[in-house]
Amino acid sequence: MLNRIVAIICMIMSLGQFSFDAGIDEINLGGNLFLVNRTYKLDMRYVPEDLVMPSVLSTSDEVLMREEAADALEKLFSAAQMEQGYVLHAISGYRSYHTQKTIYNRKINRVGSVKRAQKYVAPPGASEHQLGLAMDIGTPNRAGLNEGFGETKEGIWTNENAHRFGFIIRYKRGWEGITGYNYEPWHIRYVGIEHAQKIYEQDIPLEEYIEQIYASKEHKLKYTVEDISE
Ligand code: DAL
Ligand code: ZN
Repeated sequence: MLNRIVAIICMIMSLGQFSFDAGIDEINLGGNLFLVNRTYKLDMRYVPEDLVMPSVLSTSDEVLMREEAADALEKLFSAAQMEQGYVLHAISGYRSYHTQKTIYNRKINRVGSVKRAQKYVAPPGASEHQLGLAMDIGTPNRAGLNEGFGETKEGIWTNENAHRFGFIIRYKRGWEGITGYNYEPWHIRYVGIEHAQKIYEQDIPLEEYIEQIYASKEHKLKYTVEDISE
């Protein structure tokens, strides 16, 4: 018991700025490998300390990311341009707890049901956008965020190459029962090259990847997939 408390305190100290609602010892594996979803939520006060504006094409100023992720995004967009002549742009990066709350409530009003809204938008505290490690991306000729992006040459290239720069496609088709969200080919999440490479090779959701790692450790992740069926 004492060992466990000491381990948790050490981890919290090493993380410094992070404050999670629940299970920090079970959801962080160091570096950029955080699990944020409807089960493991971020504290409403959590704001990353190193948010910067990536030097990429964007549709607004709301595209801040943590420094390492911003740097990787620049490399990803630049590779798309240099290797293929594809133009990608950033649409939505860091979102505060309160911004997420506004988007979430707006979605509920629009679709008329919390359960339906939750398939598209994370409740406040449950969005990776609050981590500053996620970016919604698109192409200049496709204004909105829609599934069609996954069929574009830019979307296909992103799916096949994002891992080279440390990003994963977080919400793939067929993973809805695990991630809790509809297919979102535009939402890329920075986890670092090493993890992204492994996740890409195994083609599994982040939840499963983290569970795998914990399965090989002393204690298991207490993650339970929510029942999202209507
Ligand atoms: N659309 C994703 C799930 C979010 O709101 O974070
Ligand atoms: Zn997103």
